[in-house]
Amino acid sequence: MGPGDLSEALAPLPRRTHPDLLVGRETFDDAGVFRLSDDLALVQTVDFFAPVVDDPYEFGQIAAANALSDVYAMGGEPITALNIVGFPTGELPISVLTAILRGGQDKVHEAGAVIVGGHTVVDEELKYGLSVTGRAHPSRLLTNASAAAGDLLVLTKPIGSGVLTTAAKRAPLDASIHRALVDSMARLNAEASRAALALDIRCATDVTGFGLLGHASHIARASAVTLVVRVAQVPLLAGAADAWRAGGGPGGAKRNREYLDALLDWGTTTDVDRALLVDPQTSGGLLLAVPPMRAAEYLARVPGATVIGEVVDRAERAIVLA
Ligand code: CO
Ligand code: CO
Repeated sequence: MGPGDLSEALAPLPRRTHPDLLVGRETFDDAGVFRLSDDLALVQTVDFFAPVVDDPYEFGQIAAANALSDVYAMGGEPITALNIVGFPTGELPISVLTAILRGGQDKVHEAGAVIVGGHTVVDEELKYGLSVTGRAHPSRLLTNASAAAGDLLVLTKPIGSGVLTTAAKRAPLDASIHRALVDSMARLNAEASRAALALDIRCATDVTGFGLLGHASHIARASAVTLVVRVAQVPLLAGAADAWRAGGGPGGAKRNREYLDALLDWGTTTDVDRALLVDPQTSGGLLLAVPPMRAAEYLARVPGATVIGEVVDRAERAIVLA
């Protein structure tokens, strides 16, 4: 994880291993995985945050898609979810919370899962998210550690949501830019995950708070490879570059940038390229390492999936920009 990451608080605690804990907290993976039997594992994750869009129903959808994504990023199918709410009672009408919960529930149902409960606290700042439990086959997980030289790097959603949601707090976005942003963040990574499993692809993560290159660096490190990212091929949300030029991006981008400075050479990239490559994403797409023989089939099955580079043998740097 990056500097300033509060996960450092866990460092002094003793580690407790367990023979059935297949993925724990030390590998930068997206969710914990615990084996219940030879053919069944639980995939568990939790995520919640303050609103990223004004519309409460859309916020609920996005928060749920984001929380569900960490199960998909491990190759799991979501089965149950718990709502987590911080709500400023007295400042906002309860109908706002109903709309958020409706958005979350609709997305959970779209995923084929069910909400089994939740917990609400009074909080100065509105927050919403979910804890999600999924099921997976213990020997068919999508992990950070299975990229191999020769694989193609594939990204399933455009980047730039951090810059655009920050811009939207300054002034309303153009309607078509707003629509594309919300649709992207609310879209489930279900098909991206299922297609990977169906094609025996084994390496994936989802792109969230550490930005495209931060999550790429987790794959590079866990798989002991170097990732070549072809900057011009990385898909961007409409309006993201202009929004960054007009007013910059979210605070988290600076930490991501500092973390990556040690891992790569920025070469001839422009300021706006660099900002978007480290832009913290909400409910981003999957980043996968795909054996070249299966790439065409994967791209055909997953709308929006794009080849953005390739995996090579470990070189001096974890990431090379081309
Ligand atoms: Co994740
Ligand atoms: Co997460």
